[in-house]
Amino acid sequence: MRQAAGIGVFDSGVGGLTVVRALTERLPREELVYLGDTARVPYGSKSAETVARYSRMAARFLVDRGVKMVVVACNTASAFALEALRAELPLPVLGAIEPGARAAVAATRTGRIGVIGTLGTVRSGSYPRAIAALDPALHVTARACPLLVPLAEEGWLDDEVAGAIARRYLGELQAEAPDVDVLVLGCTHYPLLRPLLSRVAREVFGHDVTLVDSAEAMADVAHAELERLGLLRDGEAVGALRCFVTDDARIDEVGHRFLGRHLGEITRVDL
Ligand code: DGL
Repeated sequence: MRQAAGIGVFDSGVGGLTVVRALTERLPREELVYLGDTARVPYGSKSAETVARYSRMAARFLVDRGVKMVVVACNTASAFALEALRAELPLPVLGAIEPGARAAVAATRTGRIGVIGTLGTVRSGSYPRAIAALDPALHVTARACPLLVPLAEEGWLDDEVAGAIARRYLGELQAEAPDVDVLVLGCTHYPLLRPLLSRVAREVFGHDVTLVDSAEAMADVAHAELERLGLLRDGEAVGALRCFVTDDARIDEVGHRFLGRHLGEITRVDL
């Protein structure tokens, strides 16, 4: 029955497990079905058309599993495919951009917001658009940080190499927008780099910068939306996680770092 169906979450690869982690903390009773399109990762450097096509296939896979909601964990997929998915799918579809934008608008005092993400997410202009829709007086400066994704997957989270790369990216952002007081982590992988990014941001900007984690913001919105629709799962039992990937070469090695625990059974599928 629909109530027991669970929440479907998809991402270009392992990064979306940070969203699964946030959802598990916020909604421990919900069953989760995760699909990582690991055979075709990264989405961040691909065209809007390709990302939208892959996203449709991933979302369809989840719908066919009977989920009650689809969470587009991937910021790039949210940037390029959310509208189409919402128009096409017969269930609630939640993306990363709006929740992150909302949290950033609530947090800024200076009215200057920085956004970091993949090339695709930044090129799409989705965060500046979503923030302007909430408050057109705010200034948004976005910077693509493509090297942060492989760093997070490699587990180089806080060493001198990661520090040098973060300083360069955030330094360029600071040169453009020195009064930024809120930085949106607009990519599934960045929560792993949060301690480093927080320290480097303070160093580079010369003042505290509030980091907004779009994964946490999404979990809050998922909770509110399920409650509003009367779709929260009843009972006390802890929900299970089922994981599907399109390629399983590195999932055991990398996945647990993003989820914060072992993934359990993983099924390889073709979309
Ligand atoms: N999941 C992607 C995102 O949040 C990052 C990895 C990729 O480029 O596919 O934008």
